[in-house]
Amino acid sequence: MTLSMPMALSCKTGANAKMNPKKPEKAVVFWYSQTGNTERAGRLIAGTLKKHGLEVQSAEYRDMDPSSVAAADLIIAGSPVYYYDVPANFKKWLRALPGIEGIPCAAYVTFGGEGGNQHNTACALLELLVDKGGAPAGMETFGNMSTFAITWSSGNINRVLKYRHLPDENSYGEMREFASRILNRAGERKYFKIDKKVDFRDLIKNAPSIWSTKLFITRHAINAEKCIECGTCAKKCPVNAIDLSKHSVDTDRCIACLGCVNNCPAQAVDMAFMGKEVYGYNEFVRRNRIKIHLPEELKAD
Ligand SMILES: Cc1cc2nc3c(=O)[nH]c(=O)nc-3n(C[C@H](O)[C@H](O)[C@H](O)COP(=O)(O)O)c2cc1C
Repeated sequence: MTLSMPMALSCKTGANAKMNPKKPEKAVVFWYSQTGNTERAGRLIAGTLKKHGLEVQSAEYRDMDPSSVAAADLIIAGSPVYYYDVPANFKKWLRALPGIEGIPCAAYVTFGGEGGNQHNTACALLELLVDKGGAPAGMETFGNMSTFAITWSSGNINRVLKYRHLPDENSYGEMREFASRILNRAGERKYFKIDKKVDFRDLIKNAPSIWSTKLFITRHAINAEKCIECGTCAKKCPVNAIDLSKHSVDTDRCIACLGCVNNCPAQAVDMAFMGKEVYGYNEFVRRNRIKIHLPEELKAD
């Protein structure tokens, strides 16, 4: 349930930020992405800004130099919604950014299905940039098929397959439009007012939800016999919980992002939720013959 009630007390509106008077020429677009949805949006947004004549640097946050963020004159950040919130590892990186005083900034999130607290998560992402001195120019939410492997592994396949057509041409049109809108707003120095809604999911977001999910993860290890030593799981893990030399997972450190199980090409991540085997996104896509629709601009890459 989402009520349209402003949360004036806990929300930074960005009203005090001063937006630089300069028309943007140099943009950075960065994102956190485990299974490609947020990355696809980010690359499309970056491509649209380039078409408008901007110099654009774009990458996943783990490959982005924080000093280039501070040197830009337009910043767009993207995140998936995980556990009703911006993932903690991405928040930590954003909080450590250098000051971005006056730089127009915008946020987008990708999410899987209805009722996932996507609006407030986009607000929270934008607030993190405003905390660093950024001037809010806008935000957006883009829905697609969920990558929460526990849903389909627990038998709720149809709940996920309902969105198998997403992202589609409409979604990509919205992403291009978002990029152009942000650029126009920044050029005209138009401020965006962050308007969080009252949503009970804010009470259980992040740590409580992760903790309760972890409570039911009854197995989480790397199967040494199946493992092809490609290192994907360790590279994807945002909290360095995987030691490939020992095929071990530090389950205390794990934040249940499912990046390991979702991306392993050999199905070597041995995970169970309430005793049921969890199989990842790659496998889910293969089993259901899902073809992710790409926008024209990204087809050649
Ligand atoms: C661990 C995990 C938690 C998730 N939590 C939520 C959520 O709270 N709300 C939501 O709408 N979608 C949720 N999702 C779905 C993702 O937000 C969505 O699939 C997103 O587009 C994934 O982006 P990525 O492919 O860039 O990683 C979750 C997915 C995962 C893997």
